Amino acid sequence: MPVTVIIGLQWGDEGKGRVIDARAGDVDICARFHGGPNAGHTIVLGDKKYVFHLVPDGIINRSVVCLITNGVVIDPTVLLGEISGLENGGIIVKNRLWISPRCHLIMPYHKVLDSLLEEAKGKGKTGTTGRGIGPVNSDKVSYNGLRIFDLLKPAVFAEKLRVQLEIKNRLITALGGSPFDFQEVLEQYIAVAAALSPYIKETQPILYRAWKDGKKILFGGAHGFYLDNELGTYPFCSASAVVPGAINEYAGIPTFPDTVVGVVKAYTTRVGGGPFPTEVVGPVGDLLRERGGEYGATTNRPRRCGWFDGELTSKAAMITGTTQIALTKIDVLDTLPEIPICTGYQLNGRQLDSRELDAIDLGQVEPIFEIMPGWQKETRNIRRLSDLLYATRRYISRLEELIGVPILQISVGPERKEMIDVRG
Ligand code: IMP
Repeated sequence: MPVTVIIGLQWGDEGKGRVIDARAGDVDICARFHGGPNAGHTIVLGDKKYVFHLVPDGIINRSVVCLITNGVVIDPTVLLGEISGLENGGIIVKNRLWISPRCHLIMPYHKVLDSLLEEAKGKGKTGTTGRGIGPVNSDKVSYNGLRIFDLLKPAVFAEKLRVQLEIKNRLITALGGSPFDFQEVLEQYIAVAAALSPYIKETQPILYRAWKDGKKILFGGAHGFYLDNELGTYPFCSASAVVPGAINEYAGIPTFPDTVVGVVKAYTTRVGGGPFPTEVVGPVGDLLRERGGEYGATTNRPRRCGWFDGELTSKAAMITGTTQIALTKIDVLDTLPEIPICTGYQLNGRQLDSRELDAIDLGQVEPIFEIMPGWQKETRNIRRLSDLLYATRRYISRLEELIGVPILQISVGPERKEMIDVRG
């Protein structure tokens, strides 16, 4: 019963979209199981560029059924915008995309609270995407959330909204914001309920039946391991569980995946605040950002860039049970004469294990670097591992050695075809 989960092993933006896309043609179901519209996946197909925030990347493959399960928080306006963009581009979404009614709704007050809370935290802010992710999840765990289930029952929705606005307006005005008008929000959401209703169906029974029947199911992760709310660099993280085991809670599949594909960028990036031991600021960091197009797909913020971090990536692979690696963006390193790789951390001469460190400690470690020779040759047109220069293969195999998991796909450019596939 083949279940595959694809997740990032860094801080997100590893290029998961194109790795999911490369495998989606071969599966029956493609599902999103965590995160929300904070995610941004880019897939380039010839002259077409698709950016997904909520719809599973598999939607481009016309034979695949796509599901959004209950771990995902939904901004209806973003979702409906994405659906109409796809349908206008000739991709049929109706009867192919199902959304669990258990999904929590991002309300306008969540987005306002997101920015007010960030502002109030000042220098210690997380640097969120501003999409309301933290506030909607805190409502979820404190029993204050509104779900799609509620949206389908107008009287229930109106009453819950009335109570929430009483609470939220007090909070918002105390933090210096402007209160929301009940009637305005209600009308906005009643309108989206009608537009969303053709896509609502409980996803767990669909997944369970498919799993029992031995169908191929692909869970496309939305974030990187270090954004996991429990295991990531808290509080510089996101609000979902990112790990593959979350498919039990979020999607109702009673099993651990057969295959866990860890997507790893050939260097490291992060967006927002928080520790980043291998960060490079200055001309080399700028070069990585420009060559890699490292600007957020959701917020367009410049991403912080740095060297590959073997300590963090190997621990992420270990904890997530990663069985194979898809390495992305090796071509971004093509021009460099030499490339440092972080093989571990130390502080005051003592070697440290990142699993024992919180975000403050992680901000103080000194990375131990090993310098690899660069290859200074374009890799973009290469499709076979053996056609890469020795220095490129050596860099890749050193990464593989440090992560401790085989690298089976290597992307050498943003387009679907620009991939070296050694899966056999
Ligand atoms: P939030 O998820 O918007 O609350 O943001 C929390 C942290 O996670 C911030 O540092 C964001 O930049 C980061 N983050 C959230 N989603 C993504 C993503 O898809 N890629 C990279 N960083 C993300």
